[in-house]
Parts: sequence; structure tokens; C-alpha cells
Amino acid sequence: MPQILVLHGPNLNLLGRRETDIYGTLSLEQINQKLNELAAGLGLELDIKQSNHEGELVEYIQQAYLNHTKGILINAAAYTHTSVAIRDAIAAVKLPAVEVHISNIHRREKFRHKSLIAAVVTGQICGFGVNSYLLGLNALKQLITDT
Ligand code: DQA
Repeated sequence: MPQILVLHGPNLNLLGRRETDIYGTLSLEQINQKLNELAAGLGLELDIKQSNHEGELVEYIQQAYLNHTKGILINAAAYTHTSVAIRDAIAAVKLPAVEVHISNIHRREKFRHKSLIAAVVTGQICGFGVNSYLLGLNALKQLITDT
């Protein structure tokens, strides 16, 4: 089965408790369960990681390339707006990648409007709550099937 790396960035381990008016009440574990259920139906295998550390996220992306992972689903959270290192890692591995956000980053504070990784991923899905992840995984499946 094609393997997909699912990467959750900083503070997403607090989902379900953190700013629930913006991010909803599901925990990261519950979101991962939904992703795994969808993946089973799509015939994909997920390797799911969360880190609060930029360098660790970079290493997961590099390892994905070495492990012959077929695609990356990433919510880089706050690093979306600051991390040249994560952007460069995604560009380096040249894997199909979908950027997702629970909230619509373009409707929020100005500093969230800019995504440094948007230019190196295949596409971005944001603003659909937890469904952003599920839409993103469907998009990734399509991308992998097309290539
Ligand atoms: C987020 C949006 C980011 O701006 C924020 O820093 C997050 C979560 C989202 O999923 O909506 O931590 O990526």
C-alpha cells in the first residue's frame, strides 16, 4: 500500500482543548482516527507524526524521501508562516504534498495570510475545520493515482 506521511506541527497536540472556537473540539487522536479510517478506504497507509520542533519536522520530511513515501499531508501550524527550513525540506524531497489548515488562515490575522510553504506544495486546503485534513487526503490520493 502506498505510504503517506501526515505531519502535524506545533501546538496541534493540544487540539480539542486549544482555542476550540477556532479549531473545534476534536482531539488530535480523534482526527488521526478519522484519517486512518479514510486511508483504509482509499488503500493508503499513514505514518502520522506530530512535533513542536521545527528541526524534527524537517527530519520527518527528509526521512519520508528515504522511506519511499508517496506523498505528504502537512499542517505545519505556526511554522507555516515562519519556516524557511520546512519549505526547503518539502522542495528538496519533491514529493506530492498538500498543505492543510483547520481554520481559514486568509480570514485571520495578517501574519497568518502568508504561507511560506504554499509555493512548494501541490495545493492548499484551509477553512473546512477537521474536514480540511480529509479533503487533503482525498486530494493526495488523486495526485498519487495521477502520477
Ligand atoms: C493552523 C493555522 C495556523 O495559523 C496556526 O498557527 C495553527 C493552526 C490551522 O490548522 O488552522 O497552529 O495551521
